[in-house]
Amino acid sequence: MFKTIIEPFKIKVVEPIRMTTADERRHILKHARYNMFGIRANDILIDLLTDSGTAAMSSEQWAAMMRGDNAYAGSNSFYRFEAAVKELTGYAHIIPTHQGRAAERILFSIIGGAGKTIPNNTHFDTTRANVEHTGASAVDLVIPEGLQPQIRHPFKGDMDLARLETLLKDMAPKRVPLCMLTVTNNSGGGQPVSMQNLKATSALFAENAYFFKLREPGYGEKRPVDIAQEMFRLADGCTMSAKKDGLVNIGGFLAMNDARWAQEARNLLILTEGFPTYGGLAGRDLEAIAQGLREVLDEDYLRYRIRSVEYLAERLSAIGYPMIQPPGGHAVYIDARTLLSHIPAHQFPAQSLCSAIYEHGGIRTGEIGNAMFGRCENGEEIPAPMDLVRIAIPRRAYTQSHIDYVSEVAEHVYALRTSLRGFRVLRQAAVLRHFTIELEPV
Ligand SMILES: Cc1ncc(COP(=O)(O)O)c(C=O)c1O
Repeated sequence: MFKTIIEPFKIKVVEPIRMTTADERRHILKHARYNMFGIRANDILIDLLTDSGTAAMSSEQWAAMMRGDNAYAGSNSFYRFEAAVKELTGYAHIIPTHQGRAAERILFSIIGGAGKTIPNNTHFDTTRANVEHTGASAVDLVIPEGLQPQIRHPFKGDMDLARLETLLKDMAPKRVPLCMLTVTNNSGGGQPVSMQNLKATSALFAENAYFFKLREPGYGEKRPVDIAQEMFRLADGCTMSAKKDGLVNIGGFLAMNDARWAQEARNLLILTEGFPTYGGLAGRDLEAIAQGLREVLDEDYLRYRIRSVEYLAERLSAIGYPMIQPPGGHAVYIDARTLLSHIPAHQFPAQSLCSAIYEHGGIRTGEIGNAMFGRCENGEEIPAPMDLVRIAIPRRAYTQSHIDYVSEVAEHVYALRTSLRGFRVLRQAAVLRHFTIELEPV
């Protein structure tokens, strides 16, 4: 009856945030070498760097944490965690890890290696780095629409099935040990993958599941939990960072049906993460994940979640920001390469926009562009396919007035866009350079 979609929770604990002056922020940016990861949280008003590990937990999650059992082996918390993950995914072997990339490292240590190829719609940065670290090659096969920010398509995270087929035909089966689907497709703009595409690729969550309800014929009447279960059952296993749709601050898992791979994974887990019934996590973390995985598939929560991201996208789009359309489930991705067309890709236009948004409003956003995915090979810069600024919305952490403030700052920065400058590199690491890259204005 009423059209306002409200935050489906009330606030029990608050954390103050601190305003700084524009002069202070200019000094902070210089000191951080214009790298958003170099800024202290205390110097940030609204932190939209990532939706990962930044969710506000519910009273039920905090209550469950008190039940946390820290027995080294066979803890009660592990069995509650295992039951929740099995209920959702249906996989036989559930292996807890401290976060998503640990699951990736273990998985690719087993099945990667020189001469192997791992296709994916779009490899996330840590996924690509863990594949390549083993000597295997990571191939992105997202549909062409997924690389064109302004083109609207309901499932821009879909795998390009024709290219996948060609790759599988051209390669000996042993060289492609598995095919991965990232849902939602974070590096490709948080875009969903369709059930049809999942079925066709025969692979694999909550925000993605809600998009099925909204956009895929035949799924409107289904509950998000049923859709998520159907998705997982189309694959033979998964890696998960529970720091997103697990609604927790730390944790992840690796799950699969293959007993032999699972045994190898558990052996590797013991080497670096811990015994297979805790995998680098405290009992309380396992409890919070078990509860979070149930809460995230609540339909009221998902309706609010998807609508709040869409609301920000509508505001920014009305200002004139070019962005990936339609917006994904966890973030709005601004096309900084188009917005700041006077800044060439090698001068990091998305870093420039991130800096301006921080300088003028104290808001931290993240670069998904040339710093993250550009490469330097034999002294030559090979630019990333897109220069995006990701405005990621932490789950249940901010209210609509925070988002209205973000829009107001964005409007101010938009008016200044032609005066923004690019950056040059002072120092960079060989892998995952965006975390520690040091820049100076051109
Ligand atoms: C698609 C995807 N895969 C893997 C990861 C890595 O997970 P974690 O940060 O928990 O190591 C992330 C984190 O953002 C992600 O979005």
